[in-house]
This record gives sequence, structure tokens and C-alpha cells, in this order.
Amino acid sequence: MNDRTNTIFGWVLASCGIALGANIVAGIYFGGGEAEMPENPGYIIEAAEDGAEVDAGPTFAELLANGSAEAGQGVFARCAACHSVEQGAANGIGPNLHGVLGEAIAANAQGFGYSSALSGKGGEWTYENMNAWLERPRGFADGTSMSFAGLGNAEDRANVILYLRENGGGPDLPEVVVEEVPVEGEAAEGEEAAAEEEAAAE
Ligand code: HEC
Repeated sequence: MNDRTNTIFGWVLASCGIALGANIVAGIYFGGGEAEMPENPGYIIEAAEDGAEVDAGPTFAELLANGSAEAGQGVFARCAACHSVEQGAANGIGPNLHGVLGEAIAANAQGFGYSSALSGKGGEWTYENMNAWLERPRGFADGTSMSFAGLGNAEDRANVILYLRENGGGPDLPEVVVEEVPVEGEAAEGEEAAAEEEAAAE
């Protein structure tokens, strides 16, 4: 190895060092290269192509507003093995459910031995809590003694909740929020613009 190659190696090494150093310094000054997230990441897809509303299904409030306690009585057949619902009826494997809506969680039925999972939960049986509980009891109160997988169908849940409400009352039903349907004209304008673009491309 002669002096010249040594010098070349020296310069190569030195520039590596400088590049690394610059990188580290940049990292310190610019916060490790972590870009800040925008407030609304991603694209916002506004309306379906033909201006039709994107159907996310009815909200829980809508299901309650349009549901029926009568249908709920049918759903309650799945609960009746463990629960009574008439006023003053005996507790079964589960507590009597008369008037449970709006009451404190795990406090409605006299003389029932609630699990600590449910009695330690706190709060009241609001419609939201009841909906979450009935969808997946173990998700709501991990360790609950209610061995019931849950009602996967939102309509079933709304109807059985209306049935519970008919048996002992409950708070006012949640208000249905009416969302504004996207204006049709806007979608039409979009189509017009697309047609113009197509024409221009030809
Ligand atoms: C296999 C028996 C069983 C079935 C089926 C069952 N439950 Fe329960 N349920 C229980 C038990 C046990 C508890 C007490 C849970 C605890 O203390 O952790 C309970 C608790 C509850 C509570 C809380 C009551 C309170 O006083 O806070 C509600 C509400 C409830 N069940 C509703 C229902 C509904 C509605 C259904 C049907 C969709 C149903 N359950 C199906 C056994 C059952």
C-alpha cells in the first residue's frame, strides 16, 4: 500500500464520519426524524359515487326509536332461563331484571349475589352500558358470572332493551340525531367535471 491509497482511504473514512455526524446532529435538531401526524390522517371519502348515502346502518338510537318491545319479548326467551323480569319475581341463576334500566349496576335485585366483576364496575344501566353489556358481557365486566356469550345482532339488543324498559321503565330514550344528507347538486357537479375531463382527454 502506498501513501496515495492511504490518503484516499483516509478521505473516504473521514467523509463517512462527517456524514454520520451530520445525521446524528440532524436527528437531535429535528426530533429524531419523527414527522408530526396531521390532525386528520388519510383521505376523507365524502359520498358514494352516485350521491347515495354511505350506509353505515342505523344508529343505536335509531334502533331503539324504531324497535319493538314485542320483538324483544321473543329475544328475551334467551335470557329467561336465568332471569325473571316481572316485579317481585324470584331471582334465578341471574338477578330479577324488573326496572333494571337507569339503576346502579349490580344493585337492582334484592338478595342476589353479584360477582365482584360486575359490582365493582360502578355507574348505571344507561342504554349505552346495557348495549355494550348485552353485546359481550365479558367484554363489559371481565370475570362476570353471567355465562352468556352475548347478542351479536344490534337489533336484537335494542328490542330486548325496549322489552326491559316496558317491564319497570327506564330513562328517556336517546335522541335520534338527524344527519344532513349530502346535497345532490354537489354530486352532479362532480359528474359534470368528470365528463368535462373526459372530453378534454379525447
Ligand atoms: C346462563 C344464565 C344467564 C343468561 C342466559 C343471561 N343472563 Fe343476565 N345475568 C346472569 C347472571 C349470573 C348475572 C349476574 C352477573 C354478575 O354478577 O356478574 C346476570 C346479570 C345481568 C344483568 C345485570 C343486572 C343488574 O342488576 O345489574 C342484566 C341487565 C342481564 N343479566 C341481562 C340479561 C339479558 C337481557 C339476557 C338475555 C339476552 C341475559 N342477561 C342472559 C345470568 C344470565
